[in-house]
Amino acid sequence: MSRFAHITGWGIATPKRVMTNNELAQLVETTDEWIVSRTGIQSRHIAGQNETTASLAAEAACVALAPTNIEARDLDLIIVATSSPEHIFPATACLVQDEIGAVKAGAFDLSAACTGFIYGLNMAAQAIRTGSIDNALVIGSETLSRLVNWEDRTTCILFGDGAGAFVLQGSDRPGGIYTCVMRSDGSGGDLLSLPAGGSKIPTTAKTVEQNLHTIQMNGREVFRFAIRVMASATREVVESAGWKMDQVDRVVPHQANLRIIESAARGLRMPMDKFVVNLQNYGNTSTASIPLAVSEAVENGLIKPGDKIVLVGFGAGLTWGALSLEWVEPDRKISPLVQRKRRIAVFLARLRSFLRRVQRKLEGLIWGASTHPD
Ligand code: ACO
Repeated sequence: MSRFAHITGWGIATPKRVMTNNELAQLVETTDEWIVSRTGIQSRHIAGQNETTASLAAEAACVALAPTNIEARDLDLIIVATSSPEHIFPATACLVQDEIGAVKAGAFDLSAACTGFIYGLNMAAQAIRTGSIDNALVIGSETLSRLVNWEDRTTCILFGDGAGAFVLQGSDRPGGIYTCVMRSDGSGGDLLSLPAGGSKIPTTAKTVEQNLHTIQMNGREVFRFAIRVMASATREVVESAGWKMDQVDRVVPHQANLRIIESAARGLRMPMDKFVVNLQNYGNTSTASIPLAVSEAVENGLIKPGDKIVLVGFGAGLTWGALSLEWVEPDRKISPLVQRKRRIAVFLARLRSFLRRVQRKLEGLIWGASTHPD
């Protein structure tokens, strides 16, 4: 019997602080009019001191899991797609695993820039369809405000912080995630990069002074690349799903720039009202942009059960990709008692994490001397 991967839960988390274009105009030489006319962005969320990529990811994960018929401990896999991971290692996904108490899940980060959420969904859906796992959590989470040069008006106006999460579950019922196109072209890696802090250019006082730990971008070239691949990837994935272009109900594009989305719509000869757009309120949140847009569209009734949807994205790497899916009504009969049990489970996960840290310290004190090489 065929197996399908359904999206049964979705959730978002955004920092409390909202920064408008007029506020940005006090930091760099720009105007609200310039930013809106060139990008469509009006405001973005900016992480506060206690908000991080992992904390936003965990918050979105809890929102996504809450109405489903599984708990964190039933998850087999957690993928966090991110361009602004908490650390180089450990993986942000492992921090989320610990925070939500997903005690039997494998967890890893996926680095494919803004296309990362599409890649991650495809990886998790494939694992579910082969029968190797039942339940997965895919998250896109970013605090790009920490990687932006706030003196560079060509980049700092574009990006924002936030997280979006999908719960994926196996089902015998047709629907859910169908086909995917994943592409890359490393020859364009220098068009959008964060050069220092890795093994090639380790951190020194000079790299900090030269701003090599902030986003460097050739905006015009990225713009041209984006327009080219958005339309071609959409066409390709629609064909691989066996659909005709006019059967597509909604396209959810990566929310980088309204002009890029409008140009893709023209190239595809599709009306703009089929495209989900919310970048005016969030800016470019990289891996989080597609789950943020899908979640809002479902809540606003723009995406309904039975709809044929295309997700399409592009980003640093260069990477690009598209994914076809049919939205299904999830099975949601969660009693208040179960909801209370879940809140207790999250509290117990934090307690468990704390006790495991204490246990490791004690073991170190007791056994540390005898296991030391000396
Ligand atoms: N305010 C005012 N003027 C500005 C600003 C600003 N914030 N930024 C640039 N300008 C000026 C430039 O200096 C230039 O002035 P000049 O003509 O005197 O030299 C003029 O505006 C035009 O600059 P362009 O770079 O040609 O502006 P463009 O219309 O291309 O818009 C933008 C720039 C918005 C960055 C656009 O190129 C773009 O969106 N590119 C794609 C970027 C993108 O999507 N990146 C994310 C990829 S996804 C990921 O992996 C994270």
